[in-house]
Parts: sequence; C-alpha cells; structure tokens
Amino acid sequence: MKPLKIGNIEARIPIIQGGMGVGVSRHRLASAVAREGGIGIISTAQIGYDEPDFDKHQIETNLYAIKKHITLAKEEAPGGIIGVNIMVATKQYDRYVKAACEAGTDVIISGAGLPITLPELVQGYPVKIAPIVSSEKATLVILKMWDKKYKTTADFIVIEGPRAGGHLGFSKEQLDHIEELNYDNEIKQIIACKKVYEEKYQRSIPVIVAGGIFDQDDIKHVLELGADGVQIATRFVVTKECDASEEYKQAYLNAKKEDIKIVISPVGMPGRAILNPFMNKVKEERIAVKKCFNCLEHCNPKETPYCITKALINAVNGDLDNGLIFCGDNVDRLTEMTTVKDIFTELVF
Ligand SMILES: Cc1cc2nc3c(=O)[nH]c(=O)nc-3n(C[C@H](O)[C@H](O)[C@H](O)COP(=O)(O)O)c2cc1C
Repeated sequence: MKPLKIGNIEARIPIIQGGMGVGVSRHRLASAVAREGGIGIISTAQIGYDEPDFDKHQIETNLYAIKKHITLAKEEAPGGIIGVNIMVATKQYDRYVKAACEAGTDVIISGAGLPITLPELVQGYPVKIAPIVSSEKATLVILKMWDKKYKTTADFIVIEGPRAGGHLGFSKEQLDHIEELNYDNEIKQIIACKKVYEEKYQRSIPVIVAGGIFDQDDIKHVLELGADGVQIATRFVVTKECDASEEYKQAYLNAKKEDIKIVISPVGMPGRAILNPFMNKVKEERIAVKKCFNCLEHCNPKETPYCITKALINAVNGDLDNGLIFCGDNVDRLTEMTTVKDIFTELVF
C-alpha cells in the first residue's frame, strides 16, 4: 500500500472512512481512523440531532455541531486528517460547506447530487474537495463544469459502487442485478476520463473506490484496477469507536444476507438497509410527518412516505423498530465487535 497523496496533504494509509449519517460517523470514529493514518470523515447530515436546540433550530444547530465535531476530532487526532461528508441534497448546502471550512476541515466529500458549486464555496480555504460519483457520465459532467466555470479540477474523486450503504446512485433495477453492471469496467473508465484534467492542471487526481470493500483482497483488486485508495464505511460501524448506539451495532452483527434490502428513500433515491419492523411498516402504509427537520431539498413533508430524519435518528439512538438502518452489502459478513486499530491491522499490507 502506498500513502495517499492529495496535493500537499498525505495520508500514511490510503483508507478513507466513509461519512455515515445520521450520527454514525462523528468525532469519535473519525478521530480514531485519523490516528491510524487514514482519513476520518464526519457526516454532517443532521449532525446536531442530540444537541438541546435541535428541535427548534435544526440548521443553526447543525452548523454549530459541525464546528464542535471537527474541533474535537482534530484534538483527538493531532496531525491526523479529518474531513466531512456533506450531501449536495442538504437544505442550505452552502452554509454547511462554509461552516466546515471555517472549522478547518481538511477535506470535503460531496455526493447525493452533483456538487457543481463546491469549488466556488471553498475558495480561499486550504481544503481538498472530492465529488462522489457512480458513473463515468457523472464524472465527466462534474469535471467539465468545474473546468469551465471555475478553471479548476477535483483534488480527488470518490467512486461509489453499487455495494455501498446509504443512498445509492443506481436505479433499483440496476441494484437488483449488480453482476450485470460490470462495474470494474466503469471504474476503469472513470479513471481514464480524469486523465485529461490531470494533464491540463498538471496535478494528479487520486481515485478512491467505495462500496463493498471488506478485506485485503478487495483492496488489492481495486488498486489493480488503477485506484489509489479505498473508502470503507460498513466495517467501521461495529467498532468500539463508532458513534452509533450499541443496539445499532448489534443490528449489524445480527444481519443475515436475506435481511439486506433496497429501500426507496423519501427523496426518491434507492438506499440499502437492514429489513426490520420499520421497513415492513413503511411498505404497507405512509407514516405522516408531524414535524419537518429541514434536512433535504426536494422532500415534501406533506407527501413523503415517512420522515427520513426521524427514522435515521431513531435508528442511531437504538429505537430500531422505528428506525431506518442503512448498511452496505457486506454487512452480513461482520461477526464481532472490534476496534478501528484492529481493522487497520487486518487491512494494511
Ligand atoms: C450507515 C451508513 C450511512 C451512510 N451515510 C452516508 C451519508 O450521509 N452520505 C454519503 O455520502 N454516504 C453515506 N454512506 C455511504 C458511505 O460513506 C460509503 O461510501 C459506503 O457505504 C461504502 O461502502 P461500504 O459501506 O460497503 O464500505 C453511508 C453508509 C452507511 C453504511
């Protein structure tokens, strides 16, 4: 394994811990990963959900919590690399980006939409930015736009494949037939299409592959395809350091292959989650929204089948029967609680 160089910053180990909302990756998990030489990512999705003012002022509370968790993570991992994952679909996305920059985030990774305006929002801050892409087409759109509008390019690219957790950039039909996607080929095409921009801007654009990375063989496989590193999320949930409740972690350990399902989230995107009473309930009936938590653009509280913020907060707090438990496709392979250090010891070669 070679260190991951992103411009003037360098991670000793080319492993990024994927951002996990709501509340699954905050300062504890991210700092533990950064201490091991990887890059720890805090998810900004409703990051302030357990702060006293959250019920009244979600966005302001989240902006405060972004600064709090970045500061804590940096204190807990001196010299380590800490970043944030900010979904483009977040309401008032630009304020979240600014708050993270002001708090001194080293990295911003943005998906769930095309982060077209990201270069403009981070201007003047020494932060490295990466779009999350799932296809060559989306990669080309973003790189062309950034080139044309801002005369810049990505500092790195995260490719998120169909085996990842959380919201996914694929249709339900594609996710039902993952093998037919021939995704290795897509990865190679994405890696090939960034080369023009590397030449134009005379800098390298490292590519990180995410989705279903479980062991050393998976890492070696994507490095052979031309990747520079990996992003891993699901495995980090069953660690002592993960910020979710014990019940959440136990649900991961109990999950069997047949429990892993694709759900359509209220915002219309598919996501992967563990089948539980909540998922069965929303299949049968709509759960009316009593209160809007101002999370995502394009969600209409009057029509949404359920409130995704409420469902994710219930899950992270351990109320699993009323919660949505996002997970990656390999969650059934997890057998024991571990630590971030042990995962690094196992994966690094
Ligand atoms: C519980 C959970 C929550 C996630 N939340 C987010 C999120 O808020 N934003 C995002 O861009 N990706 C999210 N992801 C995706 C991860 O960051 C990561 O890219 C992906 O899960 C990697 O695949 P793996 O879980 O198989 O390792 C989430 C994944 C999980 C498992």
